This record gives sequence, structure tokens and C-alpha cells, in this order.
Amino acid sequence: MSLLSRFKIFLWRSIYPFYWLWFNFNKIDSRSRLISSHYQGAITYDTDGLTTSNNCDFITEPRFAKAYACAASTNPWKGFTLHWRVYVVCWLANHVKGLAGDFVECGVNTGAYSRAVIDYIEFEKLGKTFYLLDTFDGFPDEQVTEAEKAAGILQYGGNHYKDVYDQVLKTFAGFSVDVIRGRVPDTLLRCKAQAVAYLSIDMNAVVPEIAAMEFFWDKLVPGAVIILDDYGFPMHINQKKAFDLFAKSRNTEILSLPTGQGIMFKS
Ligand SMILES: C[S@@+](CC[C@H](N)C(=O)[O-])C[C@H]1O[C@@H](n2cnc3c(N)ncnc32)[C@H](O)[C@@H]1O
Repeated sequence: MSLLSRFKIFLWRSIYPFYWLWFNFNKIDSRSRLISSHYQGAITYDTDGLTTSNNCDFITEPRFAKAYACAASTNPWKGFTLHWRVYVVCWLANHVKGLAGDFVECGVNTGAYSRAVIDYIEFEKLGKTFYLLDTFDGFPDEQVTEAEKAAGILQYGGNHYKDVYDQVLKTFAGFSVDVIRGRVPDTLLRCKAQAVAYLSIDMNAVVPEIAAMEFFWDKLVPGAVIILDDYGFPMHINQKKAFDLFAKSRNTEILSLPTGQGIMFKS
């Protein structure tokens, strides 16, 4: 691109706000928000790194609203909402519930996703076990690589997570859930699932996540879903790189969603 073209773009972008103001000044009121012109209507979703004018009526749909309330009742997310991520998790769980195989989540914290899924798909009627693997008191800092430290991952360390083990036992008491406390990969062999239909990986770091993926890959039944919670988030770029390599080595690809989640299906 020539210098002149660059200068013209710069000039237009600089004067555009004044041009816009000239024609729209009288429309501004206390409810006005400045948004760029590619939106096709009122903003419907503006949280968790995602802003859109696209339809998200699912938020108020009673079945999902009830499941989301179950997730929120575990008190996981201080100060923000993430309906769209929970919706994706619930939708995919529903999609694979008819397959043979159990459900597994590595990286559970208070169990928000899993609690939502159990409600949304009436998990108790399926005759499956939901395995939940976590330290339940946070992030083993020594598993973090230098590249991840440089990306800022250690902000999840220290006392970012509190000990939620007893709370999780209470949350899932009475459900067919096996709560496995300890560090992945050390605990993987304690997960007795021989076939897996649903695998959610959300441990925020490459080493345990790839270890979990390698461990469960051969146990995943055809059609099983793998949800990578952090796949598209900028600070988690090292997980994306590691999972892209993993997917390539298995001759498959990861679907990148605007929620930040990465989705794979076992063929
Ligand atoms: C973002 S939270 C998971 C959130 C959860 N999926 C939900 O539904 O809200 C990440 C969790 O990963 C756990 N974790 C991180 N590294 C781990 C490891 N190596 N082994 C077990 N758990 C780990 C942390 O204790 C934390 O609870």
C-alpha cells in the first residue's frame, strides 16, 4: 500500500467522528452508546470478551435459564456473566447424551459448567457417570511454562482460587458424579471411565490439558465432543498452539468459536 493511500485512510478515520457528529448530534440522548457501524441492531450480548447484535434469545429460554441458574448458584464468576459459553457447553452435552460413554471434566472449580449440564440434559436419567477432576484449590504454578508466564497465565496462581472441595461434594451429592481430587495428570488413572462421550478441558495451562487430552483420546467414542474452554483467549495462546498441533497429529481440526471455546469431535 502506498504512503498516500495510508495517509488517506488515516485522515478519513481521524475526521470520521466529526462527520458523524455533524449528522447525528440531535439523536444523542442519555441511553446512547458509541458503537461501530457493523452491528445490525441493538447490542444483545456484551460480556466475556464478546459483543454482538446477533440473536441470543436462548438466554431467556426457560430450560437454559434454569440450567444457567444452577451454574450461577455455585458462585463461580465474580462480577461477570458468560451465558454464551454455558449455552455452548449445554448444547453440546445434549448433542452427545445419546452416545455410549461417560462425561468427564478436567478443571471444574465450583462445578458451574457441569452443574448446568446435569440440569439441562437431565443427566440422572442417562445411566452415566460424570467424572470431575480438579485440585479444587487452584493452579499448580510449577506446571506453567516460561512461555505461559510471559503470556500472563500466573495471574491464575497464588490464591486466585479458594478451596472449594467440600462445596463441590455438596453441590453434586445425590448425582452420579465421581469427584476426583488432585493434580492432573497424576489423577488421570483414578478416572474409571472406559468410554467417554463428553470431555471438557478447562485447566488454563498446556501441560495438564495436553496430558488429559492424550489420556482420554482413545477412550472417546465416535461422535464424542471435546470442549476446550480457553482455546481462543489471547492469554491462552500457548494452549491454542499446543492443541492445534495435537489436532494436526490426529488428522483433525478444532472449531474456533467467538466465545473463545474450541470444539472438536472424535470421528
Ligand atoms: C477456570 S477453572 C475451571 C472452571 C470450570 N470449568 C467451571 O465450570 O466454572 C480452572 C480450574 O482448573 C484447576 N486446575 C488447574 N490446573 C490443574 C491441574 N493440573 N490439575 C487439576 N486441576 C487443575 C483449578 O484448580 C481450577 O479450578
